[in-house]
Amino acid sequence: MKYGSFDDKNREYVITQPDTPLPWINYLGCQAYFGIISNTAGGYSFYRDARLRRLTRYRYNNVPFDFGGRYVYLRDDESKEFWSPSWQPTRHDLKDYSCRHGMGYTTIGSEYAGIEAHTRYFVPLDENLEIWQLTITNKRAVKASISAFSSIEFCLWDAQDDATNFQRNFNTGQVEVEYGVIYHKTEYRERRNHFAYFACSEPLAGFDTQREAFLGRYRGWDSPAAVEAGQLTNSIAHGWSPIGAHQVKLELAPGETKQIVFLLGYHENPVAEKFDPPGTQTINKKTVKPVIAKYLDPKAADAAFEQLRQYWESLLGVFQVATPDVHTNRMVNIWNAYQCMATFNMSRSASFYESGIGRGLGFRDSNQDLLGFVHMAPARARERILDLAATQLPTGGAYHQYQPLTKRGNNDIGGGFNDDPHWLIIGVSAYLKETGDWSILDEPVQYDNEPGSEQPLYEHMQRSFNYTLSRLGPHGLPLIGRADWNDCLNLNCFSDTPGQSFQTTTNKEGKVAESVFIAGLFVHAGRELAAIASRRSLSAEAASYLAEADKMVSVILEHGWDGEWFLRAYNDFGGKIGSKECAEGKIFIESNGYCTLAGIGLEDGKAASALAAVGEHLATKHGIVVQQPAYTHYYIEMGEISSYPPGYKENAGVFCHVNPWIMIGEARLGHGDLAHDYYSRINPSAREAISDLHRCEPYVYAQMIAGKDAPTFGEAKNSWLTGTAAWNYYAIVQWILGVRTTLDGLEIAPVIPKNWPGFTATRVFRGVTYKISIERQGEGNAISLIVDGAPIEGNVVTPPTDGRKEVTIKGILT
Ligand code: GLC
Ligand code: GLC
Repeated sequence: MKYGSFDDKNREYVITQPDTPLPWINYLGCQAYFGIISNTAGGYSFYRDARLRRLTRYRYNNVPFDFGGRYVYLRDDESKEFWSPSWQPTRHDLKDYSCRHGMGYTTIGSEYAGIEAHTRYFVPLDENLEIWQLTITNKRAVKASISAFSSIEFCLWDAQDDATNFQRNFNTGQVEVEYGVIYHKTEYRERRNHFAYFACSEPLAGFDTQREAFLGRYRGWDSPAAVEAGQLTNSIAHGWSPIGAHQVKLELAPGETKQIVFLLGYHENPVAEKFDPPGTQTINKKTVKPVIAKYLDPKAADAAFEQLRQYWESLLGVFQVATPDVHTNRMVNIWNAYQCMATFNMSRSASFYESGIGRGLGFRDSNQDLLGFVHMAPARARERILDLAATQLPTGGAYHQYQPLTKRGNNDIGGGFNDDPHWLIIGVSAYLKETGDWSILDEPVQYDNEPGSEQPLYEHMQRSFNYTLSRLGPHGLPLIGRADWNDCLNLNCFSDTPGQSFQTTTNKEGKVAESVFIAGLFVHAGRELAAIASRRSLSAEAASYLAEADKMVSVILEHGWDGEWFLRAYNDFGGKIGSKECAEGKIFIESNGYCTLAGIGLEDGKAASALAAVGEHLATKHGIVVQQPAYTHYYIEMGEISSYPPGYKENAGVFCHVNPWIMIGEARLGHGDLAHDYYSRINPSAREAISDLHRCEPYVYAQMIAGKDAPTFGEAKNSWLTGTAAWNYYAIVQWILGVRTTLDGLEIAPVIPKNWPGFTATRVFRGVTYKISIERQGEGNAISLIVDGAPIEGNVVTPPTDGRKEVTIKGILT
């Protein structure tokens, strides 16, 4: 069953039933101010860092799951009945409920008792605030007296401390209210120079800032006492729990529509000018007032919305495609690209499955996210690369994560994940291929954020590569360290103590356990680095990278090949993981995917054999699982992977992130039908019809779909923030559609299903618009290109040297 439908023309998903299987969310904001919003207006907001600058409070693990958010209440002041147009929190039986999740905005509304109301929520570009535009229409034949209420609950900034340190926090809350604007200023009197504000465009009939005054004793958001009474109490919070609520009274003639604008924002003052008048404890509001005044004007709000629309139009316009498959088109043109922006912004920090408290930006994750994002905003990708590289350690290793506000490596988790450094090479290479901006390699970048340690970015890449060369194990394969891509394959952990982190506990020296996956990644990274070095005329260096990569290929073929597929790893006793000799975990997706993606075994049939084995043992109708057979009990020498019940997460779940590696491998073998079939099995749009089983949003990928060993086979979990976004985008666009960036230009190499007559696409690449049309004349993947009417040699289109801004490419597949 479905809970809504796609509106592709408006780039929206329209939810028409509020009780979706899980909260179906969207992100507001794409630069510095962010919000998460569910289909019933739940969620929270923050500035830059979901943990350290949280504006509004959210209760994790709540019941119901999604409770607390940006709630509007309406009250009929004659009948005294009140309800929420977004369904939550009052959960009335609404007419025509709809939630439209769009590109950076969400509109939620309904009709109840003849009153139609919709709220459009969005964050204007270049501003640190969110706008709620509430439009109310009286559809009755008679006049209506309505009170409209807004409500939010402030978080006392540090979301972790806010959820735990009650002995202090029940005493620190402070607000100011001036001309109807509610200012949240907890800790402003001491070490903070930032505050939040909540404003309303209309004259107020009342406000509340103390939670208990608004809700009443022992009552929740579903029945606030002050809303029930029809009169807010003008409470001023001191200590306890500051909230923001406004009340506006409206008299609506039949058919009449009115709009109210609410603003929730974040603002910083210069430290020396925090107070006005100086010497008092009153917030200096001079710098924020113009911003508030500007956006309370509905015309300015509409103009900001239009700008946001155009912004997305231009970002998505960088690549648009028309294929015979609606699910491919929709994901590539709209939602997958959009999800890539969210993962780029958030990494894995803040969603309904990531608390925003636990994880900073991942080094491995953020580098991979670049694959799906770099074409949309290369300048931001450049900045991200330099930030990431500055957290690299002098050894070439990397902090596993960093905090976005401080941009410093996260000491709690540390480093020692031996795949991490190579992803920097992959990320930089993707950036160079997209932009041709070679200057980035000469940027001086610190190690471990230490002033004075600056070296060119290129040197960071060299150290990344060499990191592995000095960490090889008994077979000559890379030592795994704490884990490789699979955070749960913890071969040096040996944990028997509850609560110990599998990620940071290391009880073994780590000089034995090796990873075939890292070996494949090393080969891939080495060849990318060699290509970069040779274009910098460092031919001897390039040759040495190629030689190291070739040497590693031989090691893989000798010690990493199990006869039919690639082994996964060697454990701390030198025993095989991912071999037919193993009782459980005989075959894994990662090494088979990455080795074939890296081109290992393409010539001698090993890649084909490995992928056939993946098809036979790991592929299911809901996607390709991590390994088989699943681990049925806890193996101390394997770590977290065996801590999950069979079929979940890394223990034989469909980890969607790695499925594209198999798609790319199949594309490299020329198997367009199978590559696209695998793509479709996890494509969320293609799974929309089974929303009751899939349960997560049908417009974005989830990290995991339960594997065949799980009782809930086919159920998705952990939507939105996952490497799945970037890798699927990269696999479908660059390897299946085959519109591929290279250091020299745009390569056209489609490996599409046999029954596709072709496709058309537009690609803006290094300032030139390429109009591409592919026509199938035979069943194979051989391509010949006609560029601006003239046939060319090969299949790489180099950027025009004569200033042309538009180029047409016609490709014939035979
Ligand atoms: C999570 C992590 C990612 C890791 C994957 C597999 O998605 O964010 O870094 O590679 O799990 O364990
Ligand atoms: C757990 C998860 C894994 C994730 C890691 C992040 O191990 O299973 O997917 O990458 O936590 O710390």
